[in-house]
Amino acid sequence: MNTFPKFRLVAASASLAVLAACGGEAPADDAAANSEEPAIIDERQANFEGLGDAFKLIRSELETDNPDLAAIGAAATDMNERAQKISGFFPAGTSVDDGFDTEALAAIWDDKAGFDAAAQKLADTTAEMATIAASGDAAAVGEQVKAVGGSCKGCHDKFRLDDD
Ligand code: HEC
Repeated sequence: MNTFPKFRLVAASASLAVLAACGGEAPADDAAANSEEPAIIDERQANFEGLGDAFKLIRSELETDNPDLAAIGAAATDMNERAQKISGFFPAGTSVDDGFDTEALAAIWDDKAGFDAAAQKLADTTAEMATIAASGDAAAVGEQVKAVGGSCKGCHDKFRLDDD
């Protein structure tokens, strides 16, 4: 099920707003050619934003004197659920090469198995973090942050456009 039968349409103004928010260079010609950007691109980006927010919450809790392990566990579970959704957010025809405002590289579809494995790795490391948080060991949670962060980076290095 890698194909997405029918793209939902979004207003061209919405994609322009996203372009502005990202501060990226708007590919003017492509943007005009593809004013009907699939809504799933916004949905997957929102899912990644949620991942980033939850990960930030975990790291800032760990910087406090008395980390809230229940909050960390809940955030890790949220991350795990978001990780499991990643693969379904990438229907064919939604890469940056298709002219859309996305950082999704064509490599995702060239190596779908590798991409899915990278998403699974994040699902595994976040599940492990939830388990560790439940065990009450804040120091071990801190160690697991590295494994989770490595899962983000491992995928971004290969599959996300680096335009920073
Ligand atoms: C399986 C691959 C994969 C994993 C794992 C992954 N990412 Fe990403 N991430 C991407 C791709 C691809 C994009 C670009 C999506 C787009 O622009 O359509 C992205 C984009 C993002 C964005 C920008 C979203 C936006 O608003 O445009 C953030 C923030 C982000 N990721 C955070 C994270 C964090 C934090 C983690 C780990 C906890 C993570 N990602 C793990 C592939 C991944």
